[in-house]
Amino acid sequence: KGPVSVKELAALIGIKPFQLIHHLMEMNIFASMTQLLDEGVIQGVCQRLGITIQTDKKERHAPVHTAPLGKPKAQAPPPQPLSNIKSRAPVVTFMGHVDHGKTSLLDAIRQTKVAAGEAGGITQHIGAYTVVKDGRSITFIDTPGHEAFTAMRARGASITDIVVLVVAADDGVMPQTIEAINHARNAKVPIIVAINKIDLPGANPLRVKSQLQEIGLVPEEYGGDTIFCEVSAIKKIGIDNLLDMILLQAEILELKANYEGNAKARVIESQIEKGRGPTATVIVQSGRLKVGDIVLCGIYYGKVRALIDDTGKNIKEAFPSMPVKVLGLNGAPLPGEELVVEKDEKKVKEIVQERIEALKKDREASLTPKVTLENIFQA
Ligand code: GTP
Ligand code: MG
Repeated sequence: KGPVSVKELAALIGIKPFQLIHHLMEMNIFASMTQLLDEGVIQGVCQRLGITIQTDKKERHAPVHTAPLGKPKAQAPPPQPLSNIKSRAPVVTFMGHVDHGKTSLLDAIRQTKVAAGEAGGITQHIGAYTVVKDGRSITFIDTPGHEAFTAMRARGASITDIVVLVVAADDGVMPQTIEAINHARNAKVPIIVAINKIDLPGANPLRVKSQLQEIGLVPEEYGGDTIFCEVSAIKKIGIDNLLDMILLQAEILELKANYEGNAKARVIESQIEKGRGPTATVIVQSGRLKVGDIVLCGIYYGKVRALIDDTGKNIKEAFPSMPVKVLGLNGAPLPGEELVVEKDEKKVKEIVQERIEALKKDREASLTPKVTLENIFQA
């Protein structure tokens, strides 16, 4: 039998591949799921994990277990019917300079053709989609790179668990690249760098790495802790590895949410749609959002008339990290606004009324010129 891959070794020692990759990373070994590990590395990682291995001379690289097999598995916890905290999918936002390939990369991941269908190829809004890789879900948000959309990107960063910073290998670090890094840092969100367009003759991934290193994103191979992936959205190179790295990062973040109870969600975009009225695309953050729920969102409210998933299908309920379009609000809420479920319709109307009053006051205050010592003589 030949050498053992990361996936196989993880199965042998009873941990998840991503945990193994993480341990390897801490040993400065940057391995992918399918990478073959040599004996020294296997010995090293097993030592770290406190596992004794025997190497069978005839089966040269296959490690054979002797007890104990890693950490003893924790005793099954007593049943906790009240706890519905479960792991949830990471919410990942693609950010970067205009035309560096965010939408194309998302297309390559979804194997669809969104970028080609966009007006002028510029992303006009934030799309959100869920993708399943090896049985695990990832929710992706696409943001526009155009300067006019700073606020949208800031919101993208704050709704997200991981930012994938897309940098074109031929173009390098540009103003919106820096801006995206700042948004991610402000929101304290980890960054994975995707160097895109490596298929182009002018591609220079090394230059991108050194540019990013200068601003504090140091690749692991240079002793830093930022994951860099080299990809081509068009030639579909490195896409699987990028997804693995996202899942690895997500694993480290240990993202969890309550899957029961009244939902809380964040608006990522809203529209008034012909035949549908106001719609809001939200990402559920906790609880379960159901058709028929009474929801409150900013200064709007309503009974959820329909929920539409990212494939356009009507669904009855939505769970944490799912993007879903909500129909039934009496207006289009602002992106970034929180949507909550509230059983008591009377209370909802009161809260909305209060918010509208507060807004009116704000507006009047900003319209009434303030007389101050500074401006009193300026009239
Ligand atoms: P905005 O949403 O406008 O900020 O742009 P974007 O970052 O979403 O870029 P988009 O995916 O629209 O791609 C911009 C252009 O780059 C398109 O013409 C793509 O075909 C091209 N492109 C994207 N990825 C690659 C790649 O890997 N290789 C090559 N050669 N071209 C690419
Ligand atoms: Mg785009």
